[in-house]
Amino acid sequence: MRPIFFALLLLAGCDDAINQPKLPAYRSAAVGPGKVPPDRIEANQRPAPPPPLTAALLARGQDQYRQFCMPCHSELGDGRGMVVQRGFSPPPSYHEARLRDAPTRHFYDVITGGYGAMYSFADRVRPADRWAIAAYIRALQRSTDAAPADLTVAQREALP
Ligand code: HEC
Repeated sequence: MRPIFFALLLLAGCDDAINQPKLPAYRSAAVGPGKVPPDRIEANQRPAPPPPLTAALLARGQDQYRQFCMPCHSELGDGRGMVVQRGFSPPPSYHEARLRDAPTRHFYDVITGGYGAMYSFADRVRPADRWAIAAYIRALQRSTDAAPADLTVAQREALP
């Protein structure tokens, strides 16, 4: 008796599933495989204007850089981070002439869209924080590329 009972239950279940109304897989033409909903493009990809350069922006940039970029690019930005030491393909140093001469916007764009072997950080780093990181990378670059003329007399005299 028992197996028959279960078989009937199973059949009843099948019948319910078969008779359910069919819904279209995707209600909106904008959503579906290979298509990103417009509101996500808004949040992740829409370019944001650069905020004013302040000490707070640099501090935020340092914090975000250390979280998201340092594992590969290293604390100094020379491209010898921990992940690279463990075998990930090495990024270029931020201190090479090409990246020193690149517009700040280039760093923003690389974070947004990725670059070669480097994946995009658009879903992890907010547009405002991309500018903060870009500003911090500028500070890293300056830290190894200052001429004596960039310093005030007092700063020059204080040099060891
Ligand atoms: C998982 C490792 C990894 C992380 C994390 C990472 N990068 Fe990269 N990055 C790379 C690699 C590898 C390249 C070189 C890619 C290539 O040339 O194919 C690169 C290249 C770059 C370049 C140079 C682009 C050029 O013009 O040559 C910039 C700028 C950059 N990354 C910025 C960032 C910033 C900012 C972050 C943090 C938000 C970050 N990266 C996080 C691995 C990483």
